[in-house]
Amino acid sequence: MKKLLLTCLFAAPLLSAEPATLPRDFSGGAATIFDESRHAFSRQIPDLTAAQRSAFFVGNSFFNQSWVAAPASTAGRDGLGPLFNTRSCSACHLRDGRSFPPREGDPFAVMLLRISIPGEGPHGAPLPDPMYGGQIQGQALLNAPAEADVVAKYTETPGGFADGEKYSLRKPEYSLHKLGYGPAHKALRMSARTAPFLIGLGLLEAIPDATLESLADPEDKNKDGISGRLNRVPDVETGTLRIGRFGWKAEQPSVRQQVAGAFNGDMGLTTSIFPNENSTPGQAAATTLPSGGRPEVESKVLDAVVSYSRTLAVPGRRDIDDPQVIAGEELFTAIGCNKCHLPELKTGPVAGLPALSGQTIRPFTDLLLHDLGEGLADHRPTFAANGREWRTPPLWGIGLVEKVNGHTYFLHDGRARNLAEAILWHGGEAEASREGFHKLNRKQRAELLRFLNTL
Ligand code: HEC
Ligand code: HEC
Repeated sequence: MKKLLLTCLFAAPLLSAEPATLPRDFSGGAATIFDESRHAFSRQIPDLTAAQRSAFFVGNSFFNQSWVAAPASTAGRDGLGPLFNTRSCSACHLRDGRSFPPREGDPFAVMLLRISIPGEGPHGAPLPDPMYGGQIQGQALLNAPAEADVVAKYTETPGGFADGEKYSLRKPEYSLHKLGYGPAHKALRMSARTAPFLIGLGLLEAIPDATLESLADPEDKNKDGISGRLNRVPDVETGTLRIGRFGWKAEQPSVRQQVAGAFNGDMGLTTSIFPNENSTPGQAAATTLPSGGRPEVESKVLDAVVSYSRTLAVPGRRDIDDPQVIAGEELFTAIGCNKCHLPELKTGPVAGLPALSGQTIRPFTDLLLHDLGEGLADHRPTFAANGREWRTPPLWGIGLVEKVNGHTYFLHDGRARNLAEAILWHGGEAEASREGFHKLNRKQRAELLRFLNTL
């Protein structure tokens, strides 16, 4: 009877009060697609209406195309800069995927450096550098100097697994060169970030606040050594404080604000949400250049890019019944990776988007902040997140990064050159898990990594 009912619900999803729980390889519930090609992160969720599909295509085109300086004959795509990091979203989120760190000595091209000075603003907001603001923009339009080149230097530290196999971990250190507007603050705080992939964001946004509040355990009352905390950040449009969900420190409350923030901070484009250019009053050479309209990104374009970013599907898993993968999944639980990288969550209702609503999803995150130890600390507090805390990143799709983006750089600043290094950097609340991984033998390590690669 149950089985029959499930089949009916499948055929006629509109009749379902409770969407059926899909098989385990549907990582994003009904918002899953099966594609292991280099376009695996770029597909729309199923069941969009004609209007939603058209917003997806419009959003996709504004995401991929280059913006130009104003004034230009291509009105609607002008207003870039004066200060910017890249000309398009996809320059960093190539194929909706992840960016990578520079080689030693090369300046940042597709990463961000967030900066601030000591002290804090309302609700723990980072204080911008008076001249350079909250982020370094490494490019500028013709008449203005760029802010600076951000250059990385790596230090290698050798280590070995319990069974003797060797590894080496590299730690980046950043410095600013060719400063275009004089010296920055002496005690500048810096936090370098790679661009994450954009799959399943509509689902992560649809996890009810109450779920995240119930997962948080700020005082570690259950004494498992893990105390997930919520970031609380301003919603600029409503003026309220909301749970932070997006970005490596969960510093944005919604896909919409994150996208508007990217237009502004990364490309120098104003929106109704962030109507001011990203330059500071001291950067006169940059502030006198022509604007591309007020705002430069029209509301309908912002809406389309937001809608696009919300409706990118999650690629389904591969090889879930392979014995090596099953063994790896068991190890993942045995050494406590699942305590932060939660294997299962449920979304709430999302108006007009059945594929996002009431879905059982397998994102492998709790969206909470965790202290991952001194090794990964950026010492740059952001709202409620302290200088050692990071948001647990979702692991769905992680095994396809190599296919889509041609690299395997992980962690917030891309320092890990593969999944094993990413795990070995875990410390703080995840120290016991790291220790567990360290003690696995070669066969078990291969199992765990194989499992991760099927996500
Ligand atoms: C210069 C590189 C760069 C550009 C250009 C860029 N991004 Fe990003 N993007 C990032 C980084 C880095 C993060 C993580 C930010 C953080 O941790 O605060 C991010 C995060 C995001 C997120 C949140 C993802 C998550 O899982 O939390 C979204 C959505 C997003 N970007 C969309 C966009 C859109 C849309 C554009 C174009 C308007 C864009 N980005 C342009 C680098 C970039
Ligand atoms: C205490 C919570 C916690 C535990 C336990 C934990 N992680 Fe993580 N994990 C995180 C956080 C937070 C990050 C982001 C750290 C950063 O980028 O600096 C992360 C990052 C990762 C990444 C890189 C993801 C990316 O998008 O770059 C992988 C892979 C990963 N963890 C796997 C594991 C595995 C496997 C285990 C078990 C051995 C584990 N984690 C245990 C919280 C945890």
